[in-house]
Amino acid sequence: MPEVVFLHPDLGIGGAERAVIDAALALKSKGHSVHFVTAHHDKSHCFQETKDGTLTVTSVGDWLPRHIFGHAHALCAYIRMIYAAIFLVFFSSLKFDVVFCDQISACIPVLRWSRAKILFYCHFPDMLLTARHTFLKKIYRAPIDWLEEKTTGMADCILVNSQFTAKIFKETFRSLHDVSPTVLYPIPDFSSFNLPSDPIDVDLIPTGTSTVFLSINRYERKKNLGLAISAFAKLKKQLPVSKKIHLIMAGGYDDRVLENKEHYLELNRLAQQLDVKESVTFLRSFTDSQKRMLLNHSTCLLYTPDREHFGIVPIEAMYMKCPVIAVKSGGPLETVVDGDTGYLCEQEPDSFAEAMKKFVDDVSLKDRLGKAGRKRVEEKFSFNAFTKQLNETVHNLLR
Ligand SMILES: *[C@@H]1O[C@H](CO)[C@@H](O)[C@H](O)[C@H]1NC(C)=O
Ligand SMILES: *[C@@H]1O[C@H](CO)[C@@H](O)[C@H](O)[C@H]1NC(C)=O
Repeated sequence: MPEVVFLHPDLGIGGAERAVIDAALALKSKGHSVHFVTAHHDKSHCFQETKDGTLTVTSVGDWLPRHIFGHAHALCAYIRMIYAAIFLVFFSSLKFDVVFCDQISACIPVLRWSRAKILFYCHFPDMLLTARHTFLKKIYRAPIDWLEEKTTGMADCILVNSQFTAKIFKETFRSLHDVSPTVLYPIPDFSSFNLPSDPIDVDLIPTGTSTVFLSINRYERKKNLGLAISAFAKLKKQLPVSKKIHLIMAGGYDDRVLENKEHYLELNRLAQQLDVKESVTFLRSFTDSQKRMLLNHSTCLLYTPDREHFGIVPIEAMYMKCPVIAVKSGGPLETVVDGDTGYLCEQEPDSFAEAMKKFVDDVSLKDRLGKAGRKRVEEKFSFNAFTKQLNETVHNLLR
């Protein structure tokens, strides 16, 4: 059975980490041996599977700096990843047929010194994720961007997380026009969603509420969360006072992240200004069982980001039979079926409010769309399908 090494820059807690851990679990379930090599692994801030022995991890080069006086984060990350690759290829006793790397492609030239095949998972072109406000930053990024494009093209196989990212990939890496990335949707294992959820928590969802809208997203400005609150306020104005509707804004929140703190306060102020503060619950961080409870008992999910690369939450919601109202762009175009498992709307409060009103007017709508959503996830976005595709990708590489 092929042996696969995952090379990842920082094995902390985030979407990218979740995706590579799921990929490793998938390959492991098909009998491959898998091992992680990373520049950083902190047992107090990592996913369970990487510390309980499910997945084995080697951490190398964590003594290398992460930044130089608060600058050059990207350059340092590159050097750390290249160092880990040098360790893997020249100094470790690990045997491997395939290297699965992601986020930083600069290590690929080093990996080519081994006989292993190289699979690169492109979450999103890194060069599009950083702003270049100053001339100096532009000069600093130019060689890094050039390197990203050149080295990405050196992988034996490139995977992307959605058709949307595949399109962006083509537009960004113009010199790689011969390369067609393969789409592998990052599907989580939904088995934990089958556990019984908690009973309704009346602190979050007041009793007697007829319609509950839910938003789940980190407290970041790019997630467009204000749209949910504005749309909710518009809808509330159209309804008689006797109709009790409620909005829950649940989001990942980290005390150390300034943007999270600021944005949380901004959204609170917005709710106040729009006079809906009493009908909105803000929740900062939540447990998995709370998340299940919220998805199970909400009428529908409001998913507000524009041009989201993929978006896992709409899939989780549909799996829990919770219909999704999302912005008509990016990943949701591939996951949500307009009128069947939810609604795809313009990025405007009016457009969202109109779709939300449908759920207030027709109480059977949630059930109908919810069932269709579950069916769609089981057919198109199952962990089994993900596992099968990844296993085949690895086998084809070695043929
Ligand atoms: C993995 O894929 C290969 C090639 O398609 C196939 O022969 C093999 O049976 C698959 N392994 C499992 C465990 O499904
Ligand atoms: C969802 O809630 C209902 C009760 O309203 C309960 O019967 C069901 O088991 C819950 N589903 C899950 C997956 O927890």
